[in-house]
Formats: sequence, structure tokens, C-alpha cells
Amino acid sequence: MLSVRQNQLLTQVGPGTPGGNMLRRYWYPIAGLAELDDDPVKAVRLLGEDLVLYRDRGGRLGLLGALCPHRRVSLEYGFPEQEGLRCCYHGWLFDHEGRCLEQPAEPPESSFKDKIRHSAYPVQEMGGLVWAYLGPDPAPLLPRFDVFVWDNAWRDVGVGTLPCNWLQCAENSVDLTHVDYLHGMYYDYVLERQGRPPRKKAERRFGGVKQVDMGFDQFEFGLKKRRRLEGAGEDYREWQEGGNPFIFPSWTRAGGRGSLQIRVPVDDTHTACYLYSCYRPDDGEPVPSQARVPVYEVPLFDERGKFRTDWITGQDMMAWVMQGPIMDRSLEKLGASDRGVILFRQLVLDEIEKVKKGGDPIGVLRDPSRNDVIVLKREEGPVENVRFMDNHWQQFSPIYEEAKALMLRHKTKRFSAQNAASQPV
Ligand code: FES
Ligand SMILES: [Fe+2]
Repeated sequence: MLSVRQNQLLTQVGPGTPGGNMLRRYWYPIAGLAELDDDPVKAVRLLGEDLVLYRDRGGRLGLLGALCPHRRVSLEYGFPEQEGLRCCYHGWLFDHEGRCLEQPAEPPESSFKDKIRHSAYPVQEMGGLVWAYLGPDPAPLLPRFDVFVWDNAWRDVGVGTLPCNWLQCAENSVDLTHVDYLHGMYYDYVLERQGRPPRKKAERRFGGVKQVDMGFDQFEFGLKKRRRLEGAGEDYREWQEGGNPFIFPSWTRAGGRGSLQIRVPVDDTHTACYLYSCYRPDDGEPVPSQARVPVYEVPLFDERGKFRTDWITGQDMMAWVMQGPIMDRSLEKLGASDRGVILFRQLVLDEIEKVKKGGDPIGVLRDPSRNDVIVLKREEGPVENVRFMDNHWQQFSPIYEEAKALMLRHKTKRFSAQNAASQPV
């Protein structure tokens, strides 16, 4: 249980708030590159700020404050020029650094435009996504995590925006005990209500085996989450060395080995989810090149307007949103099994303190020699990737069938002989 004041400290994301200042030290995805092929100007809201992302006719990306500094019309209705974005109202032209290049209605000899500097933020492309950084200079490196930069792979990204604070999504990733119920018993109940058979044991998370213990270890980019399953001893390899990475502040590797769930704080009461997948054969089988990384909407609601809970991340999303726009943590009752949540909140508070003192929070990367490809080792399991796809967001992808066929040919790495002996399924 937290005080109202502590809850605010952990959940506020806007400019000038302690939490917002800490969250601004990270890069966030704000769009799929494919979206800009369809429309080169996109309104974006990130960390409580309204912005406009554009690609000019010269191919350069820019991210500007949404409201034109002249008479405050939204640049969302601006149009791209060879260089920069032009406001639709009186034609002021801005470049990617916020410089005003033209003011068509001002006298030709005027230097007024040189006095204008509009808000602008750095953006980069990686893995079919556009990434933005809203923090102070110098910007840290954009971390090159494996799924974004591996060659010989296909990718896609599902998107959905939820009406709840980012912390609810992040806390879910360290709340390991929900898996047995929300993704186990409840999932089967939902299938029963739909007149569908329960899932086979092999299709369930961890082969349907109960978790009996959990552990959390800090690593360079966040936390490693470990679980011990019923029937496995203390020497179970995954318990000793394994774990699923949780990347601070709010990403998790879940939904298959080549996937990441990226939760982006839009404002205090909204979170954008980028459900990212990378389909890559372990055996080096050549993959035909992909023209662009498709972006698709994940179906959050059914025909009754209720959350669709017949897929795993849909179940999680329902839980996050049902906790309220900003969960009132002064009313919760935490038990011993919630220690991951308690530990994570302390980590958020610690990182807020670090930033207050002028330091970098966990995972902020400034060493280029560390940023070739950052491999995120994840929990191994007996369930093949393709089974994850059927229960996760990948099933909604426009390339689902082709990707599934690719992964069926994929030679999934198996446990080592030593681990197979101790793994419990
Ligand atoms: S409001 Fe943008 S140019 Fe006038
Ligand atoms: Fe979950």
C-alpha cells in the first residue's frame, strides 16, 4: 500500500514532474515507419506532450511541438516540403531542429524568422519503428536490442493504446503469480464460454506446470525475472541462470522468443503498447527480404465492447485497464507473493532519485562499443515459438500465415541434455 503522494510520484509522466524527468531519459517508439508511408505527418502524444512527427520530401524525419508558434494551429495539418514541414495556416516552414526557414507573409527583408525556435526533438529509425527522445542533451544511445537489428529476419508490430497509466502495465511484468490464473484457469474459462475446448497441456505457459518460487535480479538494463516450477529442484538451470528480461522502465520480453512488449507512457492516463515480433530462424535458414515492417492494430474489444480476453496479452491488458486510469495504490492489499511489485516500485523510486541528483537511471546507454547488438537472453521453454504465436498478438498480424510457416520450418533450439534432465515437464 502506498500513500496518495507516493502514488503520484510513481505515476506522473508530464514535463517537470520527478517521474516525468526520469522517464525522459529513455528513447521510445512513437510510430511505425510504414505509417509514414501511408501518411507522412502524424500527431503523436508522448510523456504528456503533443507533438507532430513528419517525414519531409527529402526523406528526413522530424518531431516538432504540435502547435505552430505563430498562431497556434496544429502542425498535424502541416504539409511536408523538400526540407521541413510547412504550417497550413500562413505557411511558416520549420526544419527538424525547429528553425523557422520561411515566413511567406512577412516583408522580404524581415529577420523575424531568425528569432523563432520551435520545440523539436531527436528521432531515429530502428527495426521498422521511429524512436524519439524528449530528455536533456546529450541524448543517450538508442539501444540496439537484438530483435530490432538482427539480420535475416522478418518483423511486424501490433499497436494499441490503453486508457491507463504506464505503471500498471509495467507492474504486471513483475507480478509473476498472475500467470497461473489469468493465463491458465481464466483462459480456459473464457474458451469454455466460447464453446471451445481447453488448451492442451503443451500449449499452456510452462506446459501447464505451476510456479512455486520466483526471483528477481538486477542486470544492466533492468530486471531478470526467474521462476521455479513445481517438481524442479533448486538446481533447475532456468532457476539458477535463466530468467526473462524486463527492460526498465516498462518493456518485457514475452510472447515468444523474438518478441518485445514495449509500453510507452503517452500521458498520466494513457499507455501505447507496441507488440513487436521478430521471426528469425535459429539455424540461419535464409529469409526472403521484407519490403517494410507491417504495423497492425490489435483487437482490444469484442462486439459487446468488452475486452477480448481469448489471447494472453489481451488478458493482461484487461487487467491493467480495469485497475482504473491511475490505480489507487492507497487501497490495495499486497501479500508476500507481490514482492516483485514491491521491489519494482522501489527501483522506480531509486531511479527517480538518481535523476534528481544529476545521474543516469538504469539502462541508459552511452558506450558505443556496447551497442553493436544487445542480445537479450530469455527464459527457454519446451513450448515452440509457433505455439506462442497462436496465443499471442502474432495471430492478428497481416503476415501471420507466412510467419507461422517460417517458424514451423524453424529449428527451435532445445534444452541442453543437462537441462532436459532437470526440467520439469
Ligand atoms: S499559425 Fe502557423 S503559420 Fe500561422
Ligand atoms: Fe500476463
